[in-house]
Amino acid sequence: MKKIKASYVLTACLVALLIVISGCGKNTASSETSSNGYPKMTIKLSHVVAEDDPKGKMATKFKEIVEKKSEGSITVKVYPNGQLYGDENEIQALQSNNVQIIAPQTTKLAGFDESMELFDIPFLFKDEDVLYKFEDSDAGQDLLKKLEGDGIKGLAFWPNGFKHITNSEREIKEPSDLKGLKIRTHGGEILNDSYKQFGAASTKIAFNDVYQALQLGTIDGQENNLTNIKSQSYDEVQKYLSLTNHTRTEYGLVANKKWWDGLNDKTQKLVSEAVDAATKKGRELAKKESDEALKEIEAAGKMKVHELTEEEHEKFVEALKPVIDKWSKKMDSEIIQRILDMQK
Ligand code: LMR
Repeated sequence: MKKIKASYVLTACLVALLIVISGCGKNTASSETSSNGYPKMTIKLSHVVAEDDPKGKMATKFKEIVEKKSEGSITVKVYPNGQLYGDENEIQALQSNNVQIIAPQTTKLAGFDESMELFDIPFLFKDEDVLYKFEDSDAGQDLLKKLEGDGIKGLAFWPNGFKHITNSEREIKEPSDLKGLKIRTHGGEILNDSYKQFGAASTKIAFNDVYQALQLGTIDGQENNLTNIKSQSYDEVQKYLSLTNHTRTEYGLVANKKWWDGLNDKTQKLVSEAVDAATKKGRELAKKESDEALKEIEAAGKMKVHELTEEEHEKFVEALKPVIDKWSKKMDSEIIQRILDMQK
């Protein structure tokens, strides 16, 4: 009798173990899986901007969905403002799995594949419709996949806005007005080339150090989207804003690939759905929030805002033509061609 009981218990244990293993499908990030099939785990998501910027709001949306649908099994901790990791160390932290998801401006990922810099090709995207069409296309998705060899899983592109130039010296109406100025960028060769065309110097400074550099006068100006200009209070330390719309801030929402591969199918599906919902929200917000930020900057009246005339805009296009030509050829020409075809 005793013997029968022992083999019964052993069989039951084996069956239970098989159920747990098959439920997981793959290794999960946690040894413990809840009865609802999600692992008990914490996902850390770090970014460098304010919580109420479009990126901050997308991160919050992602957190809400994951936590709600996993019924609390998964906790998402969002660290804004570079409080956990900044530009200088977030990619390394991701590769070491000290943080599972980050959302840097795509050029910050160009060390892995130079095509990630393509959002800095001047005037490449004429509006959000073309941009989002590209991001959703096979070409856009192929671009995200280019990071996989380096242990990075591209989850999505997250939007923000077109970039503009602020400075403390003079009003910028045409390219020659930039001559001799030192401008902060988020880095990358395309922007270096662009500022060279203007006779200006560009320098890369970590995002969370920009306000101080502007305040100290280490740099004369910077380029950024309107929500960042607003939320970082650059109007306290800059006198002029020119609406140049010359390039775009887009983010690569990326995860540690080994961590991602270790998630069970159900969890991957939940994370993907939450990413899609957050991206959708971001697209609804991005343009609206850029417009609102501009209104608030204008209403505050601290910076003189200049909107380029059609003629002034053409001068920028003309000045940047060599950069556009050089980089459109140097980059993955198939991707560039597919974007150009979408503009037609
Ligand atoms: C910057 O470095 O200027 C931006 O990319 C920061 C951000 O994440 O919006």
